[in-house]
Amino acid sequence: MSNILIGVSGGIAAYKIPILCRKFIQAGDSVKVILTENAAKFVTPLTLETLTKNRVYLDDFLTDISPRDIEHIDLAEWADIFIIAPATANTIAKMACGIADNLLTSTYLAYKTEKPLFICPAMNTNMYQNPATVDNLNKIAQRGVNIISPIEGELACKDVGIGKMQEPEIIFEAVKDKLSACNVLNGLKVIVTAGPTIEDIDPVRYISNRSSGKMGYAIAEMAKKMGADVTLISGPSNLKTSLNVTKVKSAINMLNVLKQKVEDCDILIMAAAVADYRVENISDIKIKKSSNELHLKLIKNPDILFELSKVKREGQVFVGFAAESNDLEENAVLKLKMKNLDMIVANDIKREDIAFDSDYNEVIVFNKKGSKLTIKKDKKEVIAEKILKEIKAYING
Ligand code: CTP
Repeated sequence: MSNILIGVSGGIAAYKIPILCRKFIQAGDSVKVILTENAAKFVTPLTLETLTKNRVYLDDFLTDISPRDIEHIDLAEWADIFIIAPATANTIAKMACGIADNLLTSTYLAYKTEKPLFICPAMNTNMYQNPATVDNLNKIAQRGVNIISPIEGELACKDVGIGKMQEPEIIFEAVKDKLSACNVLNGLKVIVTAGPTIEDIDPVRYISNRSSGKMGYAIAEMAKKMGADVTLISGPSNLKTSLNVTKVKSAINMLNVLKQKVEDCDILIMAAAVADYRVENISDIKIKKSSNELHLKLIKNPDILFELSKVKREGQVFVGFAAESNDLEENAVLKLKMKNLDMIVANDIKREDIAFDSDYNEVIVFNKKGSKLTIKKDKKEVIAEKILKEIKAYING
């Protein structure tokens, strides 16, 4: 039983919101609804009040204010879950900028960011695909808002394309699924490594790789959302996160930090792209281009996973990634065995539409009991959630 707050902005899909309210009420939840001025032209407060048995909240809150009744704060506190459906391009833009000029957007700002928030965009295809809307959606997704993407279909403007709000039944299932996933990792301590490592040559130059850290950060953030106590250890990366990050530079730095922290964790996920070699003699001063050739002697870095597997406790779960350009499955399974892992996530780094620096990935997850799960191309957040659920299923046996 949860308190569900539904914010409705002004789009034709607002006529489907009574069905969404009913789904939650039938499931035993309490529902309150905020209508923007335009939404109230598409669906009547009376319909929603009759269904929800609660008063519907309208935009008169700015003028009709009493000292005891600060509606946007009260509603934001009351709600366990906030769903904005349909979310118009305008409302999404206001959310991205933090503009609070009506009850719905003011409540959005007052709503604690750690509580679950879903939006269901609905608009004309061109509006949905406009770079402004795309940027705004990315911005709020990065802040942890769950986006239930629209589907293709015939739109109110008679265009056929993407932009139609998902059906209420699908929205209901997506919200319930997400929430059941929320507690899946409760009580578990998870260490995630992310990003590249860099190996100095001299004070100016270094050796590194193309990893952006996006996959590792997505896993760390999702693990937090799923209830885990997360430690993120990252090589150099420009990504922003609300998590505390321990920043490291080289492979040896990463190994040393992990040696101190690993004993205490239940799950280690090594998404970092660790440099395999380092320069044997790092120059203290900038190397001058005095000769035509520069010879660097590179020596092998320790294999962090292999080293840590020597001190692995009974019951700990170690997960590696395999970045492969060829023979993906064979190489991944080989690494699973050689590094004594419970699970390995294989990704094809030759594909330009996924992996390094992309927001998307497609992976195959192997575990040491012989199972194989293909996770089709999707946003890294979605891939992260599916990997974490697979790890949990492995733990549960
Ligand atoms: N890894 C590690 N220590 C290293 C190199 C890699 O712990 N020195 C980890 C990575 O974080 C990843 C897994 O091992 O989880 C596989 O990394 P990958 O780069 O795919 O393979 P390598 O072991 O480096 O082997 P190769 O470069 O030969 O493919």
